[in-house]
Amino acid sequence: MDYRSFDFSKVTTQQTDSKKKETTLTTNEPTISKAKRLELAEITEVVLQLVIDEITDEMVGGDDEEKNQIRRTIIRILNRTLGERDVYLSQADKGYIEENVMNEIFDFGPITELLQDEAVNEVMVNGPHLIFIETMGKIRQTDIIFKDDAHVMRIIDKIISPLGRRVDEGSPLVDARLPDGSRVNVIIPPLSVNGPVITIRKFAADPFTVQDLIGFETLDKKMATVLKAGVRGQLNMLVSGGTGSGKTTLLNALSSFIPGDERIITIEDAAEVQLQQEHVVTLESRPANIEGKGRVTIRDLVVNALRMRPDRIVVGEVRSGEALDMLQAMNTGHDGSLTTIHANSPRDCISRLETLVMMAGMELPTRAIREQIASAIDVIVQVDRMMDGTRKVVKISEVTGMEGETVTLQDLFVFEQERVDKNGKVIGRHIPTGVVPAFMKQIKDNGEQLSTRIFTEPEM
Ligand SMILES: Nc1ncnc2c1ncn2[C@@H]1O[C@H](COP(=O)(O)OP(=O)(O)OP(=O)(O)O)[C@@H](O)[C@H]1O
Ligand SMILES: [Mg+2]
Repeated sequence: MDYRSFDFSKVTTQQTDSKKKETTLTTNEPTISKAKRLELAEITEVVLQLVIDEITDEMVGGDDEEKNQIRRTIIRILNRTLGERDVYLSQADKGYIEENVMNEIFDFGPITELLQDEAVNEVMVNGPHLIFIETMGKIRQTDIIFKDDAHVMRIIDKIISPLGRRVDEGSPLVDARLPDGSRVNVIIPPLSVNGPVITIRKFAADPFTVQDLIGFETLDKKMATVLKAGVRGQLNMLVSGGTGSGKTTLLNALSSFIPGDERIITIEDAAEVQLQQEHVVTLESRPANIEGKGRVTIRDLVVNALRMRPDRIVVGEVRSGEALDMLQAMNTGHDGSLTTIHANSPRDCISRLETLVMMAGMELPTRAIREQIASAIDVIVQVDRMMDGTRKVVKISEVTGMEGETVTLQDLFVFEQERVDKNGKVIGRHIPTGVVPAFMKQIKDNGEQLSTRIFTEPEM
């Protein structure tokens, strides 16, 4: 059988705990030249083909004995192949090929090690020969390669076909999720010009807590205290920021402040928010199926959630007409909602919301939309990815009302960048602006106490 037509979906793949590695960066190993990697990739493919010719369906269940048997088969075939071709390889290179063939059969080929490496947050395949990762906030190129476009396509298929999805010229872009919760986006030619492109945002098995974020200097203790009182005091909050700026991570951390006795409904495209509370209902939107039917949008879910007697609604991200339903919910007694939005500043966040509300197609006058925004949203928390790859809360702003046609904002905390040190690290500090927010009354009514000094005294 041609391995290209081998049905990899019947192979039990992925993520047994024993495979979880310590935090290491496999890509730090001594670099093998690209020519050498290509040569090894060639041999890997030949051996893979021969191995697949020999193995039967019963051998790919994935238990240890079966795996050992396949390993022995790989080693035998590899030695034979090398002998026939008169190629000499070091023991290390042979081990590398053996591992690669195992990864082709049981996992996700060349990117397997990246997916297993807990230090890697994001894996980006830009065609077969350019693979990037993000670790500790920094993006860098790895020396891992696929053999060619067809090889990338085969791994794409392996990732998405068990999920009942497919990618081809007719549907050249796909969003999906791995069994471990990682988010995957695939886009292939002709839409992508570099060849097939895969972007994987790995699921944080152990998401950052507010304490972690304070440790990373994403925000300081005072800001955390204020945000905690805000969440517990049922303010409606938006976490705003650019792509990958840490919005979802912060939303997740903030939602830990929601009291355990409240009924929380989370709504997302792909469940990323991980709540510790008991009383949580998680709703996930659904794309249309292959016949173009059955789509359920975030908006549908928001509307439905309102009939589910929620105390809190947490929406992973507003990016369309659901913004209107969210605002209406917030204005009709569903306080304490949390969501994220893609915007570059609190001011930009307001105009973005306005645009999203218009996407609901209700033809509301601008002023009416702005009034809804001003009365619904209490606080905007702006996050940013800094030059050095760290994420910072750069502003906490209160939405104070309207002045004429304009929604008014008031900064409560800002991050002031002072300099960049010789290692490229951003140095600065979080400072309160001295303004005591108008929401003090609301949170007090909801039983939360905050000293006004937290907003007025820089060093407390
Ligand atoms: N405060 C932080 N400090 C360090 N790393 C962080 C921080 N917040 C998030 N990250 C890392 O940055 C990456 C992106 O985070 P996250 O998914 O929260 O961003 P996002 O703004 O929601 O992205 P998107 O725009 O794709 O929705 C993740 O790998 C996450 O682990
Ligand atoms: Mg996000």
